[in-house]
Amino acid sequence: MTQPVAIAFKETDPEVFASQTGRIALIVGGDGKLGPAGRKLDRAMKSALSRAVGSEAFKGLGQGEAMELSWPAGIEAQAVQVVRLDRKSSADEARKAGAAIGAKLGAEGALVVAQGHPRAADLSLGLALRAYRFDYHTGEDKKGFGPVTIMASKPEEVAAAAAPHAALAEGVFFTRDLINEPTNILTTDDFAARLAAMHELGLDVEILEEEDMKKLGMGALLGVGQGSEMPSKLVVMQWNGGAKGEAPFALVGKGVVFDTGGISLKPGAGMEEMTMDMGGAGVVSGVMRTLALRKAKANVVGLVGLVENMPDGKAQRPGDIVTSMKGDTIEVINTDAEGRLVLADVLWYAQDRFKPKAMVNLATLTGAIIVALGHENAGLFANDDKLVADILDAAKAEGEGAWHMPLQPAYDKLIKSRLADVKNVGGRWGGSITAAAFLKRFVKPEVPWCHIDIAGVALPPSETTLAPKGPTGWGVRTLDRLIRDKFEA
Ligand code: BES
Ligand code: MN
Ligand code: ZN
Repeated sequence: MTQPVAIAFKETDPEVFASQTGRIALIVGGDGKLGPAGRKLDRAMKSALSRAVGSEAFKGLGQGEAMELSWPAGIEAQAVQVVRLDRKSSADEARKAGAAIGAKLGAEGALVVAQGHPRAADLSLGLALRAYRFDYHTGEDKKGFGPVTIMASKPEEVAAAAAPHAALAEGVFFTRDLINEPTNILTTDDFAARLAAMHELGLDVEILEEEDMKKLGMGALLGVGQGSEMPSKLVVMQWNGGAKGEAPFALVGKGVVFDTGGISLKPGAGMEEMTMDMGGAGVVSGVMRTLALRKAKANVVGLVGLVENMPDGKAQRPGDIVTSMKGDTIEVINTDAEGRLVLADVLWYAQDRFKPKAMVNLATLTGAIIVALGHENAGLFANDDKLVADILDAAKAEGEGAWHMPLQPAYDKLIKSRLADVKNVGGRWGGSITAAAFLKRFVKPEVPWCHIDIAGVALPPSETTLAPKGPTGWGVRTLDRLIRDKFEA
């Protein structure tokens, strides 16, 4: 997998400024005061820095924004980045400042002079998250990113504060890699093998095969995969870092490794994007990796349903009626509404086996959520106001957009079927809500539950503050924060 850049924390040492090759980033407050380390660097640069921070361009910088001095005289570095970050800044602003540095990082690495900024650890997270490149499938020389040194006051303390951030960055990169991989590489077998390998980190990983799922009666999930040459799988990952015997928090992910739509075939234009339809499973996997890496003090179980949705002589048809593990029969009106069929069985299995104290599922479930919220917010649908409030708080703290959507019983009538207990689509209007209403049927009312539709945020069309163009890993940080704040002792 793609590893986050190595970041070391050291005491400030102005002696190395002149000879530092690669890049230097200097943190400066909005008042433009250089500070002791800044003044030393300025002297070496023959006052170029003081001119820069006195300029109109510097005054125009917002929090976390940067300006660049290229090939400066007097020092070896190829560029000095002046990053505006006031001493009183939010975690979000500090991550943004780090991201400005990470976005420019190259093979030569960088020296970050944080000048005693109190949010150096948050800055390091932003830097690590933004310095991501997925280049396994290019012929280019893979130079990667050079090492980063952050000069901070009390570097051991900052390093300790940044340690869980490093685990988080690795979890996010794991998710991004999974979403980036094309389906001929990330088959259901390959996906399951990557998760099984996390055994090394202390996770307990089980793989349920088609025969196992047949015995459990998972007709909804199996129906989706039956037109594919790839075997459907259910992977169960357990992290038991909490009290022995305490009910776990459950995470469930939609892992459609490719979604052609099945017999209700999607149009050709843009279909290649459906390699990301395992994004929910990707996020669950990234969170589990982070929990293991930082040895979280909580019991969490992650379950992902891995299937491929293909049209074929053996594929399920519109009009087919399948029986779910719960026992409810489902009329499959549209084979392209497959994610909810997969989740129906995985959600039921999760509750049946683990009796979780709360359950969150993530899925690239509907195009309709993109119509509603665009690419800025994931849609939250819940049966429990407290859980949704906690998730919104966690998302806000992490700077990930999330919005609470409605889920009243009034929507249930839209998925009534003439021939079965329920049908898998609810018509043209409120498509993301009827999808959630369908899932709700497979959640026991006493289990606090939230469905997060990440179709719009998993792979946005342009770069974001903390990610280059491509998958963001949306949700890994929010869920890690939720677990940290609400489920750890
Ligand atoms: N995987 C898609 C949803 C999706 C769309 C994800 C765009 C990411 C980007 C899902 O399986 C799907 O096809 N949903 C249909 C449902 C419809 C048939 C009721 C949709 O949204 O059109
Ligand atoms: Mn679909
Ligand atoms: Zn899908």
